[in-house]
Amino acid sequence: MLGTPNHDSMSGKYYARFSVQDTDSSDSYLRQAYRLFTLHTDGTFVDEPTDWLLMMKMIEQNARGGESRLLHLDDWKELDMYVNHPLSSHKFTYKAPKSKNVDQEIERLTFFNHNNQPGVCFIDQFVYPESIEQAKYLRDLSNSLESDDSVLELELPVGDLVVVNNIFWLHGRAAFEKDPNLNRELLRQRGRFNQ
Ligand SMILES: [Fe+2]
Repeated sequence: MLGTPNHDSMSGKYYARFSVQDTDSSDSYLRQAYRLFTLHTDGTFVDEPTDWLLMMKMIEQNARGGESRLLHLDDWKELDMYVNHPLSSHKFTYKAPKSKNVDQEIERLTFFNHNNQPGVCFIDQFVYPESIEQAKYLRDLSNSLESDDSVLELELPVGDLVVVNNIFWLHGRAAFEKDPNLNRELLRQRGRFNQ
């Protein structure tokens, strides 16, 4: 109903299921339970549109914390400051870590025009700034998103799902509290809208 799903290179399917547990040796924030997974959009390092994102809770055991965090661009207090900054029209380079199975470098604008409104494309862990000035812009942008009063913390019961428009919603995850038996599994699917 939403549109065509994108192929997920991490799983080799049109969706991915992944678990977060106590121990982890992965190369991205996705499976690192005790770290704040900072607000971002999906599809930054792939060469195809990612208009929507679906996340469904499949399993949750011994989980405290780990809420889904969401922020809509319209609710972000400092949006104008970052959209009007000279670096908002800079093409930043994005590279995926090994686990994503995407062997490609992509250049992306952080903010772009979508129906005469700003859209956003950003993930702090895979962007490669070329100067200290650029790094500070990205760091401050991420801090501004994280500390905004309008960030929603969503409890997602097992069996429930959330769908967001990936053009103007940023998503992330709060850190879990330490538990040796933590086990949470999420399904994700991403795709484009039918034109
Ligand atoms: Fe994501």
